[in-house]
Amino acid sequence: GDHAHPPVPYIGFQAIQPRTDALFDQVVVAEGYQAKAFFSWGDPVESGATKWKADASNTWQEQLKQAGDNHDGMHFFAFPNDNNRGLMVINHEYINPTLHQNGLNYDDQGKRLLDDVKKEQAAHGVSVIEVKKDSLGEWQRVYPSLYNRRISALTPMKVSGPLAGHALFKTASDPSAMEIIGTLNNCSNGFTPWGTYLACEENWHNYFVNHDKKDYQSRVSHKRYGISTGKEDNYYGWSTIDARFDATPNDALPHQGYVNEPNRFGWVVEIDPFDPQSKPVKRTAFGRFCRECVAPAMADNGQLAFYSGDDTRGEYVYKFVPSQRFDKADMHKNRDILDEGTLYVGRFNDDGTGRWLPLIHGNEGLTAENGFPSQAEVLVNARAAADMLGATPMDRPEWATVNPHNLDVYISLTNNYKRGKAFEVNAANPRPDNRHGQIIKIMEDHADPAATTFNWSLFVLAGEKPGSTDVNGNKVPDHLVGNIQGDIFSSPDGLGFDRDGRLWIMTDYDDDDPVMANMGCNQVLCANPQTQEIKRFLVGPRGCELTGITWSPDYKAMWVNIQHPGISYPASDGQTRPRSTTVLITKNDGGVIGT
Ligand code: FEO
Ligand code: CA
Ligand code: CA
Ligand code: CA
Repeated sequence: GDHAHPPVPYIGFQAIQPRTDALFDQVVVAEGYQAKAFFSWGDPVESGATKWKADASNTWQEQLKQAGDNHDGMHFFAFPNDNNRGLMVINHEYINPTLHQNGLNYDDQGKRLLDDVKKEQAAHGVSVIEVKKDSLGEWQRVYPSLYNRRISALTPMKVSGPLAGHALFKTASDPSAMEIIGTLNNCSNGFTPWGTYLACEENWHNYFVNHDKKDYQSRVSHKRYGISTGKEDNYYGWSTIDARFDATPNDALPHQGYVNEPNRFGWVVEIDPFDPQSKPVKRTAFGRFCRECVAPAMADNGQLAFYSGDDTRGEYVYKFVPSQRFDKADMHKNRDILDEGTLYVGRFNDDGTGRWLPLIHGNEGLTAENGFPSQAEVLVNARAAADMLGATPMDRPEWATVNPHNLDVYISLTNNYKRGKAFEVNAANPRPDNRHGQIIKIMEDHADPAATTFNWSLFVLAGEKPGSTDVNGNKVPDHLVGNIQGDIFSSPDGLGFDRDGRLWIMTDYDDDDPVMANMGCNQVLCANPQTQEIKRFLVGPRGCELTGITWSPDYKAMWVNIQHPGISYPASDGQTRPRSTTVLITKNDGGVIGT
């Protein structure tokens, strides 16, 4: 490979200690920095929004104009020619029972209440909020703003790419297969060099049920993704009251009712934040799985690739390579780049080499005899297609991020502690009882995002230090020991590179689990990709995970998300219901974050 060594980034802050106290309910950040709540569930977004009510009595119509729940991936887009003004786009992955005054309720017939379900659907999706630097140089929200917008599980979306108009997308209420209502479980994200946001649909299968167990057994697009076959869907029981989420085939309805509705989730949704009237677009060339993220890489010649993990035990790492290069001189031409390209799945050989296997109809057994009559089936059943090609099963691939200095790709394999018989260990996933996870690094041949071969290595195995003791004073067993040079953590999830080449790592583990006692609450760490040194920068309140990361154009402001805090953050008064919150981090001396 032609891998230029990136610069060794300067990491100037003093690392902080873990927070192991049971009632820790704040955000603490390295000395010399401040962290303040910036944007919380229920905050007004669209014009005319109602204020958040602390007793959660806001209606679903009010929720439609307010910030959604469970903030996750996000991205800052500067206005053209104005780095002091921007649009932040923020995912709202799912909802907590705290969305309602008294949790999730059912009526006497075992059905969810329609107004509650609508509030939950309204609290999913994406927020677009305008922000600007004030006269003191501090970032503030702009409200009202014509750009402020909520996209939810109730927002109509367009379909483009190979599945547009396809029989596999036809339902009783959309015989055209051209309009999908809503996006679900938007976990991590991506963005494009033409200024659009990419929301990813992760655990969408949990919103559907198929009561016909016989049909389910032969329906790969349900079974291979683990859609529920029980009384209701796995998550919120929407299927009990909203017919769209009951994917049992119904021959009395056109297109068998909603049996195809699950096919319409698991995609990348492109959103143009600068055009508030634009309809989001589901880009189907990317393939369908439980997509955590879609991290972009771009070479100097405009060649693009987008890296994704499928966050389920034993699932795969993918990349999508558009056929066309990005053309800075012709922004109009870039608009449909995402509709044509090749989806690849990763094979990680034990000798440190790897190969991207193309998911192309007709190749390597992806034929009609094997259930793939066209590229549409290859894309809808991407997992099954990847099985045929012999992709390497991984320990729950979460975020990917790309080093801007040499295009090395880093991917979190968060953990895999209920491995079962799903797959054997291999060199990339070396621990049989993997509580703490690892970060893998991919170096594409010639640093080319379109390469089909690569080298890989494990950047870090998370876990305890050798010789550590647990809370009872017993030596920590070997399988819980990692090789971190610096501060310990478990379950890497969110990842992001800043401009100087610092790798920021965000964690998601159960901070109540005794195995995590030494790690304390979830955290943000900063890694030096050259020296592999890792320092703890921020710790979040008890019960939360840290996820989502973005910066202002000068890298003097950084935002991260506190997702599902457990006690009362951001009020931190021990009483107010907790709210997922975007936090703004600045350096007291006005410097670049991390220096
Ligand atoms: Fe939504 Fe895989 O985290
Ligand atoms: Ca995640
Ligand atoms: Ca996670
Ligand atoms: Ca989460």
